[in-house]
Amino acid sequence: MITVEDLYKVYHQGKREVRALDGVSLTVPSGSVHGIIGHSGAGKSTLVRCLTMLDRPTSGTIEINGVNLTSARSNALRKARRRIGLVFQQANLFDSRTIADNVGYPLELIGVGRAERLRKVDELLGLVGLGDSGAAYPAQLSGGMRQRVGIARALASDPDVLLCDEPTSALDPRTTDEILELISSLRGRDGLAVLVITHEMHVVKSICDSVSLLDGGRIVESGRLTDVVRRLDGRLSQALLGIPPHVDESVVDGVLVDVLSTGEHATRPVVAHTSSEVGAPLNIVGGSVEHLAGTTFSHLRIAVPSGTDPQRVIDSLLSQGADARLTSDLADPTGTEDLA
Ligand SMILES: Nc1ncnc2c1ncn2[C@@H]1O[C@H](COP(=O)(O)OP(=O)(O)OP(=O)(O)O)[C@@H](O)[C@H]1O
Ligand SMILES: [Mg+2]
Repeated sequence: MITVEDLYKVYHQGKREVRALDGVSLTVPSGSVHGIIGHSGAGKSTLVRCLTMLDRPTSGTIEINGVNLTSARSNALRKARRRIGLVFQQANLFDSRTIADNVGYPLELIGVGRAERLRKVDELLGLVGLGDSGAAYPAQLSGGMRQRVGIARALASDPDVLLCDEPTSALDPRTTDEILELISSLRGRDGLAVLVITHEMHVVKSICDSVSLLDGGRIVESGRLTDVVRRLDGRLSQALLGIPPHVDESVVDGVLVDVLSTGEHATRPVVAHTSSEVGAPLNIVGGSVEHLAGTTFSHLRIAVPSGTDPQRVIDSLLSQGADARLTSDLADPTGTEDLA
């Protein structure tokens, strides 16, 4: 479990003060995957550097399974750091070492004997699907395979936390999904807490249980994926569901309504049913269906023709267990487009 409380990091650029982290608090329970998403300059890399204490936070606390990193002295800190496995955009392997020796390197550093090392390396290479590649060298592997080696190496010291900084940004879409699947499969491993830093909503959609939106060094939205998506007018919700926040209502005849059906409701013809209940055709002008953290979300935007009371439509949809709101009532958050 990772607990971050009120973390600040202030940099000085000449006379200017930059608050790269401006009071960040977050909790990642063991056994879950939490995503931090934000655009360029939001403070993502600063957060990673501070979490590993490679960069000292200006103030605030970081705890990993109850051990306070921010107050630990050098020896204790060195030990505590071993509780964090790191995965970066590039695996940064030693080219002159075999794959097995790369994975075993962190164990060598802490003096684990050869037999135990070989056993552990074997297990880890099997875990990441590279059981046959131990004797190969990094140059013989594809980018996706090298990233698997990086993940195996990060797990070598049995960390409590796996911190992944843009783990798939250098990979093609298919390899990205393979690596995401691997990271997702680690969720149940010995109570590991996984934190994934990304600028891609695809990563969040694919593997995260919960997510925080970092903007200007602050967490401006946070929660379980299945909760944030229901807010409809939040930035995360709109980026997750992928319907542009506002449509020009002058191009449609009538009033626009957003409908969100969740779980088993998402499989029912709620709009068709409402259409016959209110006796008016309801045109679907936008829509998406997403599967997030095991739940289906169907988001539709419908046009209620003039002459039909939109409130009757909304009431009918609500009575069927869907959420329905006038699209014009939804706030128009800025800065969503670059997250999608
Ligand atoms: N060593 C430093 N000295 C001064 N300012 C810094 C330093 N590191 C980061 N910053 C500033 O802190 C802010 C956050 O930077 P950071 O690198 O954490 O963003 P990021 O979210 O990782 O962006 P990107 O997606 O582009 O990697 C930026 O305004 C940056 O200029
Ligand atoms: Mg960065």
